Amino acid sequence: MIRTLSAFALVGALLLASGHASWAQAPAQAVKDRLEIMKSLWPQYYQDMARSVRSDSPDLALVATKATQADAALKKAATLFPAGTGREAVPTTRAKPEIWSQRADFEKAMAALIAENNAMAEAAKSGNVAAVKAQWPKLAEACGGCHGGPPKSGGKFRFEE
Ligand code: HEC
Repeated sequence: MIRTLSAFALVGALLLASGHASWAQAPAQAVKDRLEIMKSLWPQYYQDMARSVRSDSPDLALVATKATQADAALKKAATLFPAGTGREAVPTTRAKPEIWSQRADFEKAMAALIAENNAMAEAAKSGNVAAVKAQWPKLAEACGGCHGGPPKSGGKFRFEE
């Protein structure tokens, strides 16, 4: 009987321990995943887009493809800022507490970026070069909704470097 009880206790302790471990790991994983996406935005999508948009004859098919791919990445990034993933859990993150204390503003900035990116996809698909060129600064500025301010300042939602 005592044996059975202690076996139960052991199993319980193991379950608790593993449950605890995954809790401790989840915020670090969210930070890692969102940083991976953020860091990929320029090299994977917007660098080629920018080059094309600024050229005399932009490759609109490429612009549309890059914008469509970026859309998926941005929507994924939007899910990677759950509560409990700030510096209290992951000391290396640059995510500011304002992300959670001013959630509506944060979500508005993310939604604005997604909308400007989407407008770029539509402009490219419509074949309107002037519209594509006019949309580029709006899209670039939407990063500033969270990354505004002088170079090393983090902006409203990010700690400075
Ligand atoms: C809705 C807010 C928001 C928008 C809009 C946004 N970002 Fe971010 N970005 C963040 C936050 C918050 C971090 C820091 C995440 C962390 O450290 O956990 C970050 C981090 C980054 C990083 C990693 C650098 C670092 O050390 O912090 C890069 C690069 C980046 N973003 C690029 C971009 C680009 C390019 C755009 C526009 C296409 C963009 N971001 C739009 C919120 C945003």
